[in-house]
Amino acid sequence: MRYDNTSLMGKVALVTGASSGIGAATARELARQGMSVVLVARRADRLEQLATEIQREGGRAWPIAADLTDEGERLRVLAEAAGIAGPVDVLVNNAGFGWYGFGSEMSWPLAMRMIQINLVAATHLTMIALREMKARGGGHIINVSSVAGNLPEQGIALYGATKSFIDSLSTALYRESRGTPVHISVLKPGHVRTEFFELADNPAAGHHIPGQRFAIRPEVVGRRIAALVRRPRRVAYVPALLVIVPWIEPLFGWIIDLMGPALLRRR
Ligand SMILES: NC(=O)c1ccc[n+]([C@@H]2O[C@H](COP(=O)([O-])OP(=O)(O)OC[C@H]3O[C@@H](n4cnc5c(N)ncnc54)[C@H](OP(=O)(O)O)[C@@H]3O)[C@@H](O)[C@H]2O)c1
Repeated sequence: MRYDNTSLMGKVALVTGASSGIGAATARELARQGMSVVLVARRADRLEQLATEIQREGGRAWPIAADLTDEGERLRVLAEAAGIAGPVDVLVNNAGFGWYGFGSEMSWPLAMRMIQINLVAATHLTMIALREMKARGGGHIINVSSVAGNLPEQGIALYGATKSFIDSLSTALYRESRGTPVHISVLKPGHVRTEFFELADNPAAGHHIPGQRFAIRPEVVGRRIAALVRRPRRVAYVPALLVIVPWIEPLFGWIIDLMGPALLRRR
């Protein structure tokens, strides 16, 4: 079967981190476009609510509650998804979280959890899905990164590093897959108005994430992901203007060095 992305009707998308924010908005949008969606995250009640909402609007959705930091759970999710919905045509690796503050103050268990979900889970799911999609002759993997992957900035040391890893992995795999019917894209949003900020903000340590007021709605990102499914590309920025971000570090990194202490300080 060749992967035909002109029509999404009846194709299967697996969206991780679908219990809120970008993942939920993406699942709604893909279902609206006719895709069957498998919703994955830890909060079963949220996933069930979303599945019911999508079904009520005539779509097809199945919730699978799982903690994706666990390797066995990841394998279970893929097996269950294939069993209930069929082979996955589009994998959206979106589950993840951030943490804002001095990197030296981040507890190691929290750091490990971030590495496990932002990096290990996304990498593992990508590798399995890529092999299956190649064997079936088509598919598309979209890895949700962040502009933070291009900005090794104070306050988001580990978060930015996990996203840099995802950028590099996705770009290299995209290059390996060129000319085949399997697509790999990396999506790089700026600030998005989701629960991400409640979790990442660190007021106890005196730190607040700057720039939240410029955040866009998750629905905008969901629509961009649906557009990416229709027209696969190596990388997409949301908003599109953020395409300039990769130039900031090489051109102005020295200014950010100078401003470092002012940009991250206790209030
Ligand atoms: N918001 C932003 O400004 C922004 C900007 C750039 C990139 N991003 C990226 O966008 C992605 C989605 O973030 P968001 O903004 O939509 O935040 P969000 O609303 O907090 O959503 C995060 C999702 O990840 C899931 N998740 C977290 N840990 C998990 C685990 N161990 N197992 C399974 N699912 C897990 C959460 O579900 P459960 O808690 O139910 O498990 C939730 O559905 C993240 O990768 C984030 O880095 C966000």
